[in-house]
Amino acid sequence: MNDSPAQFRAPVGTHDVLAPESAVWEGLIGTFSTLAYRYGFSLILSPLFEDVGVFNRGIGEASEVATKEMYVFTDRGNRTLALRPEGTASVVRAFVQHQPPTPWKAWYVTPAFRYERPQAGRYRQHHQLGVEVLGTDDPAVDVEVIALAWRFYEAIGLRRVRLLLNSMGHDECRGRYVELLAAHLAANASSLCDEHRETWASNPLRVLDCKREACRAVTERGPMLPDHLCEDCRAHFERVVAGLGALGIESTLAPRLVRGFDYYTRTTFEFAADALDSAQNAIGGGGRYDKLAEQLGGRATSGIGFGSGIERLLLAREAEGVTATLLERSPDVFVVDTTSADVATPYADRLRRAGLAVHRAYDQRSMKAQMKAADRSGARFAVLVGPTELAAGQVTIRDLRSGDHDQTQRSVAHDQLVATMLELVKK
Ligand code: HAM
Repeated sequence: MNDSPAQFRAPVGTHDVLAPESAVWEGLIGTFSTLAYRYGFSLILSPLFEDVGVFNRGIGEASEVATKEMYVFTDRGNRTLALRPEGTASVVRAFVQHQPPTPWKAWYVTPAFRYERPQAGRYRQHHQLGVEVLGTDDPAVDVEVIALAWRFYEAIGLRRVRLLLNSMGHDECRGRYVELLAAHLAANASSLCDEHRETWASNPLRVLDCKREACRAVTERGPMLPDHLCEDCRAHFERVVAGLGALGIESTLAPRLVRGFDYYTRTTFEFAADALDSAQNAIGGGGRYDKLAEQLGGRATSGIGFGSGIERLLLAREAEGVTATLLERSPDVFVVDTTSADVATPYADRLRRAGLAVHRAYDQRSMKAQMKAADRSGARFAVLVGPTELAAGQVTIRDLRSGDHDQTQRSVAHDQLVATMLELVKK
């Protein structure tokens, strides 16, 4: 039972992230940004809301996310806007608007909003780390984008991740395949699941993704996309698979993998975390979208990218038992000041300017209360100043992680404080 007095709570399907959990988020984001930098990506920031047309045209007006999950609203100027349900369409809109030189490589961290039925690993506001590359259809870039995701998962300690790979072909070969699939579904419509018996014709590809046994049994006997790619799309796909293999990244062909948005062409992929429940085990996904820039009014420009859900990455780490911290966030020093002259403020300022992380107490608490706070903060050292130290121009430094204070405690002249602390923290 929660007896918190709060009248307002975070809306259903959303959550607050406070320390110490937020330090893990900082670690994930920092690891991703460092890797993205190594791979030649720069950060992009763009509005959280866009003209609804950006998403309708981008992800597809008939897609489930656009029809059932998007947060659409009218602003006070009567514009119809939507909160971003995903990152790609906004990034491509920005690309079309600003026309940066290509290849253009952008990374982002963003909240994304989908009105879903909330459950573990599925939220109404989730957060994605992602990259997009525009301006090249070289299969080498497919390999690089997938490798970046893979190396990121390695860096954050995940070991049980599988890469599922497919190709959606281009408009023509996919179009021909959809006709074959539709004919197969028409001939077997009565055997499909209740939902798809009625709806298969509006988007036959969706049936491939259906997890129900009835649909599976029908599609298993039907045509599969990779067998119907044109020569160019097949060659592209083979080069991607070979390129990944050369980097030691194993992929599994997943001919049923049709992702939820309409913009995908050619290479599509998903990363499944085997430690998670299969309904929510996708920790990342992406693919090519060689028509999207045109659909958003720009010049024909190839693109590829992926997005990875931060909440799912955290769940996967937990399920795999990964505890390694990615970022140390406990302070170096806690200043305990019992002088009533507030020397903590100038001491902390000097130490912080020297690059140390410093915590302190407020409100002139007792020595005991301050020492307790110092221990709770996780600081490695306490700097103690009382009236006697102040009069003698000294401070006492105590190593909080050593049990024997009398042995390790030392006094230094207050003008030696910064130099001594820097020396100690380095050890
Ligand atoms: P997506 O597969 O819809 O793709 O989402 C990417 C990742 O975000 C998923 O693999 C999952 O980890 C996480 N995710 C999605 N929805 C939720 C949710 N409701 N709750 C928690 N986590 C969620 C995209 O969004 C594409 N923009 C990816 C992309 C980039 N394709 C090309 N470039």
